[in-house]
Parts: sequence; structure tokens; C-alpha cells
Amino acid sequence: MKDCVEKREMCKLLQEFSVAILFYQPSTRTFSSFVAAAERLGAYTTAIHGMEEYSSAAKGESLPDTIRSIHQTTAADAIVLRHPQDNSSKLAADFSPVPIISAGSGSLEHPTQALLDLRTICESFNLDSPLRVALVGDLLYGRTAKSLAKLLTLVNPANELVLVSPNELQMPPELVNQLQSKGVSVLETEDFETVLPEVDVVYMTRVQKEWFEKQGRLEDYERLKASMTLTRDRAEKMDKDSIILHPLPRQEELRYGVDANPRAKYFDQMRYGLYVRMALLLCTLQENPAALLGIEV
Ligand code: NCD
Repeated sequence: MKDCVEKREMCKLLQEFSVAILFYQPSTRTFSSFVAAAERLGAYTTAIHGMEEYSSAAKGESLPDTIRSIHQTTAADAIVLRHPQDNSSKLAADFSPVPIISAGSGSLEHPTQALLDLRTICESFNLDSPLRVALVGDLLYGRTAKSLAKLLTLVNPANELVLVSPNELQMPPELVNQLQSKGVSVLETEDFETVLPEVDVVYMTRVQKEWFEKQGRLEDYERLKASMTLTRDRAEKMDKDSIILHPLPRQEELRYGVDANPRAKYFDQMRYGLYVRMALLLCTLQENPAALLGIEV
């Protein structure tokens, strides 16, 4: 997929397919890259942002009804869904006649982000050797760190996860137990400074203001929003071969001064979102994508 984009080729491998992309929450990267991915592959694309406000969801329509309706009205062969409810992708999949691809479900999961994060990590490291990855920030409400933690555990249980967050924003204990039961080592700490020089990957995340807002706890957000901050000076203390990732958007936790550090890979990371989502759409809709591309797997 990377070759295809870099050579400016339109690889019309999904020409006969149709994809619906429904977003009930704001998005810059995930929405635009899913649309670009579907269109690059030549699929008919119906992409709707602001579903929460402009679809019949605003009149109280249920997610199962909306999903079945969109399938009928667009003849979609797959539906990409971002929704604030934790169980939304499972619920949609239970009612959908076609595959549902989660583009973020509540505060629980963001699996395609994890895939692109991992793909970015592969550019710098060999996944066969164990990695030490620090997941930093809001590990309670943030969904990207949770999905990445699961994926890193799946690809190599010898990986080590260092969870760096203030006490109040720790990763839910059920998830930590689940990860540990798969064999991965998990260390929880608030000591960001000490962790920095000791890891291969620093994965920063923002404190999720919207979840605090929903609970009427904006003062807590203000107190916590800059509790784990990566500054230019701190980033210099990292190992020279280590990398810095962030799903973005950023707030105060990732200073602009870090952007010029050669370890900063968060803009490259976004581009992998395009490649990975193209590949995922292809694998979802075509039975034998490798044969279509003439590659051996
Ligand atoms: C993330 C999300 O929506 O969970 N954004 C993204 O998809 N890159 C991260 C966030 O909002 O903090």
C-alpha cells in the first residue's frame, strides 16, 4: 500500500465495493485516512462526520437501526464506525449484515490506531526482540494506549509495558490483569523522569478532556492535564535509538519543542494510518488480497 501511494498510483483493487464511514465523535486523522484509504482503492465511499448531530441519532434512533439503514441506503460492503459508547462496535457488528471496522469505541478500543502504531514501531525495531514501551498519560479514559497494550502483548508476550500515569488515570486493573495473564510484564509508575532513558518507545497520550466534562469534573482535568509532560529537555534524556509516538491530537503533554528531536515519529505515524487502513479494507473485502497484489505471504 505504501508503494502504491508513493508511486502516486491509484490501485483500484476495491472498485466494485462500497464503504460507509460513520463518525459520531470528532476526528482529524482517523476520518481523513479512512476516506483516503477507501478512495485510493477505488471504492464507492459514503463518509459522514457529525452523525451524533446530523443523523437520526439526534432524534433518538438506535445504533442497530442506523447501521442497518446505512447498509440499505448505501449498499455498503463494510462499515467503519467511530462512536462514544464502549460497546458500540460489538453492538453494531451484532446487527450489521456486513463487517464493522472500529475506528474507536468509547474509551475502550481503537484497534486500527494500534495497528498503525505497531507499523510505525516496526520501522525502527525488530519485533522479534522484546521491546520496552512506556505508555504515558491518560490510561484510564484513553483508548489508544489500551489497544496498543493489547497488540504489543499479542505480538510478543516478552515485551515489557511501563504504564506511566498519575494515580487517578491508571489503566483499569481488569485490563492490566488481562495483559499480565498473557505473560507480558507490566510496571505501573508515576515517575516519568526515571522511565524516559530506559525505554525503546515513549507513547504519549493526552488527558481526555471530554470524559471529564461528561462527569462534570473539569477542575480535575485542569489539575491533571499537564501531569506527564514531554519537553524538549526531557526528550534529550531518552536513549538515542528510542522513538516518541503520539496518536494526536496533543495538548500540553507533548511540547512543540520536541518536534525537532529525531526521535519524534508522530507525523510519520499518521502516514502509516493511510497504508494500514488501505491494507485493512483490502483484507476485509477481498478474499485473497495477496494474490491480487502478486505477493507471497
Ligand atoms: C485518538 C482517539 O480518537 O482516541 N485520536 C486518534 O484517533 N488519533 C486519541 C485522542 O483523541 O486522544
